[in-house]
Amino acid sequence: METLVRFIKAMPKAELHLHIEGTLEPEMMMELAHRNHIQLPYVDVDEVRRAFAFGSLQDFLDVYYAGMSVLVTSRDFFDLAFAYLTKMHAQNVRHVEIFFDPQGHTARGVSFDTVLSGLVDALERAERDFGITSKLIMCFLRHLPEEEAFDTLKHACRCKDHIFAVGLDSSEKGHPPSKFSGVFREARENGFITVAHAGEEGPPAYVCEALDDLQVQRIDHGNRALEDEALVRRLARDQVPMTVCPLSNQRLQVCPDLTQHPLRRMLKAGLLVTVNSDDPSYFGGYLTDNFLAIQKALALEVSEIVTLGRNAFLSSFMPQPAKRKALEAFDDFVDRFDFR
Ligand code: HPA
Ligand code: ZN
Repeated sequence: METLVRFIKAMPKAELHLHIEGTLEPEMMMELAHRNHIQLPYVDVDEVRRAFAFGSLQDFLDVYYAGMSVLVTSRDFFDLAFAYLTKMHAQNVRHVEIFFDPQGHTARGVSFDTVLSGLVDALERAERDFGITSKLIMCFLRHLPEEEAFDTLKHACRCKDHIFAVGLDSSEKGHPPSKFSGVFREARENGFITVAHAGEEGPPAYVCEALDDLQVQRIDHGNRALEDEALVRRLARDQVPMTVCPLSNQRLQVCPDLTQHPLRRMLKAGLLVTVNSDDPSYFGGYLTDNFLAIQKALALEVSEIVTLGRNAFLSSFMPQPAKRKALEAFDDFVDRFDFR
């Protein structure tokens, strides 16, 4: 096996941009539809896969929300998350920070506590069985009114032990971060860290708003920040972590040709960028696949892969002692790796 491929597969990894509902594989979708007597618009796995041809973020979101309708019981959320964590264990992932979209479930009559209890059980079991540590990030759906986000935040405030941060996802264009200034302020006052998707399809101004109005500690995606030189200088100066998702960018036509992907330009600009999978079932690859695809497309060198891998631990919300240990283990892996 080519050395770099071997290196990427074996490297200890962290994933910081992963929607748990986006790990729903077509096989599990069909199985849960059957288990829960849910009617899907697809007859079989092949038809589900054929629906995974997206022209834009909105195209994807329509399929993503339809797919998640099969998730009903705590056991469903457990099975979904534990399947993802089992895959991550096999890919040498040591730490994950997972988004979930409660409004995608409560709107269908599935309770917040049903969702959270299934996810938390899976995360606890993965820590016991695999030693994978984790944080949960609750996202607000930005196409919905801020008022509904406030209702969702009330649930999070009851469950502070299990939810570390709040984020913002769904349809970006026409839904600027500033629409959620109030609910993010209340979230911060309640001790939540904040992050937001920005600059995926939306303009660089949305990245500025996420920083200024939502006071985020990380930008999810952020590709379009490159269009604003002053913003790039600010992101580099403040070392704001950015969670980039190559296969997602390709599949959602944010960057249809991976050889044109901005990742290397982002690295060269001194940005604190990481590689992530976003919605791996829908975009054709988990974390390792994203590293392999972008390495190949941009002919990334070992030193660049090392920086990207290391950045993920640096950018994580791990507590300081655990972060220091994980970074030491990462550096030790690189030092000992046989590059011949
Ligand atoms: N962008 C916005 N919303 C999302 C995404 C994404 O990549 N994945 C799931 N919800
Ligand atoms: Zn995302």
